[in-house]
This record gives sequence, structure tokens and C-alpha cells, in this order.
Amino acid sequence: MLNNIIASVLPFFPEKLVWIFSKRYIAGESLEDALRVSKELNSQNIEVTLDVLGEFQTRLEKIEFYKATYLNTIHESVKAGINSTFSVKPTMFGLLIDKEVCYSHIRDIVKLASSNNSFIRIDMEDSKCTDLEMELYKRLFDEFPRNVGLVLQAYLKRTMDDIMDLNTLNTKENPVNIRLCKGIYIEPEEIAYKKKHEINLHFAEDLEFMMANRFRVAIATHDEKLVQEAYKIIEKHNISNDMFEFQMLYGVTPELRKTILAGKYRMRVYVPFGKEWFNYSTRRLKENPRMVSHILKAIVIRK
Ligand code: FDA
Repeated sequence: MLNNIIASVLPFFPEKLVWIFSKRYIAGESLEDALRVSKELNSQNIEVTLDVLGEFQTRLEKIEFYKATYLNTIHESVKAGINSTFSVKPTMFGLLIDKEVCYSHIRDIVKLASSNNSFIRIDMEDSKCTDLEMELYKRLFDEFPRNVGLVLQAYLKRTMDDIMDLNTLNTKENPVNIRLCKGIYIEPEEIAYKKKHEINLHFAEDLEFMMANRFRVAIATHDEKLVQEAYKIIEKHNISNDMFEFQMLYGVTPELRKTILAGKYRMRVYVPFGKEWFNYSTRRLKENPRMVSHILKAIVIRK
């Protein structure tokens, strides 16, 4: 209840105040901020995935602007020697308005990543986008199998079917590359698991199926129980280190991150940056008011 109230009034707070909540989770407004944070993480043996903030775009000039921003981000991070991949949200490129325009922009970004031996992850957005983002991934995988990956959400009831579907593309030479997360959007009960224990159960099932079938997997969670579950699956199926990595969001549970790194596992941190941080932070909070308590807890406990 209190979470809901705080989340709904936060957009009316002055930006400076919201920044106090947000700065822990966002590298800053500029590419320089993102590169500085990335260098710092790289120096701790942590790889990064850079994300330019901004989603659900409808104006063509804005979409062009974001493509140019991504291309420049790839150029500059390669030039700066950052150990990085990149994450994109297809609605930034007009997915829900014109899927061909979106495909063509993201293809240009993946092409540049491919020519630099880098990698683009297609983030998974709300359930209006799931079919479209699956289709987008399959098209790009066909052309750039080593340079593109997708995200799947364990809370969606359809996810195991999507995994089975992607398994038909999976080969030893070109494994399908999936980041598995719980899912951040508020979805109706008909299509999504709601209870934490159900989501965790499906997360573990999805992860085990993908690992047993030799997908390349990014395990994106800050949930200590799921991290322990992942260790067991890795051991049970004897999964080599190059077939998986752990991923976490910038600013979240750095202590858990350290214990994973100490186990000699690979770790990548998702680093969002850009001028759209205000909308991003407040929308995220409205979508998922439980985040308010995570944030308050993190500010107080700073674990
Ligand atoms: P859970 O929410 O149970 O959190 C476990 C513990 O972690 C909490 O008790 C708390 O201590 C801490 N915690 C979690 N989030 C926190 C926060 N923001 N601040 C402070 N503490 C926090 N979702 C999606 O729908 N599409 C996507 O493409 C992505 N991409 C993505 C990339 C990466 C690298 C990560 C780590 C996550 C995503 N997500 C996502 C978000 C994901 O779906 C999920 O909402 C969050 O990771 C929170 O779920 P956990 O698994 O961490 O568990």
C-alpha cells in the first residue's frame, strides 16, 4: 500500500529528489558516465552490457536519434577498450508501430556489433511484445547467430513453449543465447505466474532445460536462492564456464555479486544510462511498486 502511494506520487517529485533514489541504479546521463562506470566494473573483473534509456518511442526522428546513439555507443566503447555487450529495447525503435522499421534499425545495430565481434541482447518487454520480439530474434539469429541474444521471462506461462520453439534453432556451433529473468512488468494472471515460489520454480525448470540442451544462458537474478539453484544445475549437467554467465543490474546486491565472482563464475552488469532516466525510474516504480521497498531497503542497508 505504502509502496503504491510512493510509486504513484514519485513522478510529481522534483527530478533532483528522484535522482537521489535513482542514481544508484543508473550510470548517468552521458556516454562518458556509462564508459566511466563500465571501466570501473571491468577493473573488478566484471563485464558489462550497456543500455541506452528510452522505450515505447513513436516519433521517427527520435527513433533515428536512438539508432545513431547506439551506433556511437558501440564505436566509443570499442575504441575505449571496454569489455561490453549492448542491450536494446525494441519499442525504442518503434516495434509496436512498424515492425519492419524496427527490424531494419536493430539489424544495423547488430551488424555493427557483429563487425566488432560484439553482441546485442534484445530485452524482453511487456506481453504485447513477446511474439514480436521472438520473431525479431529468430530473423536476426538467422543472419547473425553469434551476435544476438534474447531475454525470456520465467513469470510468463508460455516461456517453456518458447524455449522448446527456440530449441529447434539451437546447434552446437551456434547455440541460442538467452538471458533468463523473472520478468518486471505487471501481467494478468491468465498469462503469468504471480507467486514468488511459482516464478522461482519455473525459473529453475527453464534454466535446467536450457542448460541441459546446451543453450548459452545468462542467469539474470539477485535472488540468492535462485543463484544456489543455478549452481546445482551447473554442477549436475557439468556446464562449462563459456556456456553461461550471471547477470545483475547496476547498483543491486553488490555483495551477492562478489560471492559469485569469488566462485570464479563470470559476471556481467547491466548498465543503463541516458537522459531518459527520470521516465525510466518512475515508470519502473509505477509498474512494480514492490521496487520501492527494494530501494528503501538498499538505501538503508546498502548490502
Ligand atoms: P527478486 O525480485 O525476488 O529480488 C531478489 C532480491 O534482490 C530482493 O529481495 C532485493 O534484495 C534485491 N533486488 C532485486 N531488485 C532490486 C532493485 N531494483 N533494487 C534493490 N534491490 C533489488 N526484466 C524484464 O522483464 N525484461 C528484461 O529484459 C529484463 N532484463 C534484465 C536484465 C538483467 C541483467 C537483470 C538482472 C534483470 C532484468 N530484468 C528484466 C528484471 C527482472 O525481470 C526482475 O524484475 C529483477 O531482476 C528482480 O528479480 P530478481 O530475480 O532479482 O528477484
